[in-house]
Order: sequence, then C-alpha cells, then structure tokens
Amino acid sequence: MQKQLSVNHLLGIKELQKDDIQLIFETADNFKEVINRPIKKVPSLRDVTIANVFFENSTRTRLSFELAQKRLSADVINFSSSSSSVKKGETLLDTVNNILAMKVDMIVMRHSSVGAPHFLSKHISAQIVNAGDGTHEHPTQALLDCFSIREKLGEVAGKKVCIFGDILHSRVALSNFFFFFLLGAEVMVCGPITLIPKYIKELGIKVELDVKKALEWCDVANILRIQLERQQLKYFPSLREYALYYGINKPLLDSINKEIVIMHPGPINRGVEITSDVADSHHSIILDQVQNGVAIRMAVMFLLAGRIN
Ligand code: CP
Repeated sequence: MQKQLSVNHLLGIKELQKDDIQLIFETADNFKEVINRPIKKVPSLRDVTIANVFFENSTRTRLSFELAQKRLSADVINFSSSSSSVKKGETLLDTVNNILAMKVDMIVMRHSSVGAPHFLSKHISAQIVNAGDGTHEHPTQALLDCFSIREKLGEVAGKKVCIFGDILHSRVALSNFFFFFLLGAEVMVCGPITLIPKYIKELGIKVELDVKKALEWCDVANILRIQLERQQLKYFPSLREYALYYGINKPLLDSINKEIVIMHPGPINRGVEITSDVADSHHSIILDQVQNGVAIRMAVMFLLAGRIN
C-alpha cells in the first residue's frame, strides 16, 4: 500500500488520487480507534506546530482541527481575523508570514476567497490544509462525509448519493462531486433550478427538481444549508417557500418505500432545509460525521507532517 500522500498540501479533493484517499481512510480508521480509548492522545506530532488561521466563521471545522491537533500532541495556535491586525489593513501573505516567523510548520486555513490556500501554497514553504475556501472546496468535509458513508454502508462505490439544496454556493458540494467521481458513486443534485450551477450536466451529474423523486432514487441524501451570506440575488421567493418545496421532512421520508441515510455538513437551519424530526431521526448520521471529522483531520495532518523534511 502507498505509505505517503502524493501531495504536500491538502488544497482540494481535485488534487488527490484514489490511493491518497485509501491511505487517509486507513489512517483515520486507526485514529478513530485511538480517540475512542480512555486515553485519547498519541505523541505522533509532538514536535510539530500548527496554526489554525480562520478568516471566516466556523464551529465544527475549527474545533475539530484543534481537537485533532491536540489528540496528536501538536503545539497549536489559533488566529481569528475578526480580532486580528487584518482589521488594520495587513495582507493575507504578511499575516501568514508573521505567523510562520514564529516557527510554525503547518497552516490550516479557512478563507472566504476562492483559491486563497492555493495562492498561499505558491508563496510559503509551510504545509497548508484548506479548511474551506469560499464557494470552491472543503476537502476535509468531503473526506469525512465519504468516510461516514463507508462506515454506514460498507463502501461508497456504486452508491447513489443525492446532494440537496444550495449547490451553487457550496464548497461542500464541489468537494463531494470530485470525491464521488473518484470513488465511483452515482451523483444527483436536487434543489431550485436557480441554485443549481449550469456546469452540472456537463459533469455527468443527474439533476432532479422534484424532492420526492430524488429521495426515491438515492441511498444517501446529503442536505445542504441555504448560504444566505453568499447570496447577492434572491434565488427563491422566501425561506417559507423553500422549506415547503425543497425541505426534507418526516412525512416526505415516510412516503418513500426505502431506508435512506441522511447527512448534513452543518450548521443546520432547522425547519428550512431539514426538519428536527429528520435531523434527529435514526436515518441521520449527522453527529457521526462530526465525530469522524476528528479522525479524518488527525489522519490528514499526520500524513502531511510525514512529508516535512
Ligand atoms: N461543516 C462546516 O464546515 O461547519 P463549520 O462552518 O461550523 O466549520
């Protein structure tokens, strides 16, 4: 088996190969076993210093990376743009170079601009993990999503996955597409036509506008939040109408004659894209996704650190 990742940074799923994913999953299997022990910590990254550099809000990703770093015994510093000298006009590159001057080995970065981590990777020597760049990619989310499907259904290949909701503004959707293609799942999207990018059909992704038909087709429903913070236009009349026509609720789930797995990357807007009786039902693996995020991020940082000279 491949023992090293083929990449120096985790910028996106697009840059990964199938063997990289297998290696990350097998490493995450081991770390998942570790974090379920009474002593949840290993010394694997004892001499590595990692900075979490967040220019956008986050709960799950940020805490999950920090916990993963602590479980690996790395030294951790946290940067949040809202309370930093970015507010005084400092550039992204100056900010990161100042952090690196403190002898930091790896940067985990979330940024609202598409391509910000790719830009950084051309200008700094430290390793970079993309924790979400604008509407582009969120690679560790796609890794934990597919790891969770594999855990629940045995494998991802051949499974039918439908991504519901705001595809247009979603970095999770794009990373999921790259991932499902690589692993051989069938992919569909479902939502208002205004929130489905025009390029979708060229990628060979099925489009279904009827939520019930999409649910009847899929084994896994990955439900996305409406990203109002990224919408400059009105893409549908009101949240009430969205919930009525595109929200996933219990009567809808009960009306289809099969068991499907419900996923959501979070944060959830209860009562909009998903109702509480679905989010909290036995169909839902939403909190398993969160738990798996720690093991996946441990695996990614452990494997990248193995490439530090
Ligand atoms: N899934 C996800 O990226 O959540 P946060 O924005 O809370 O990190």
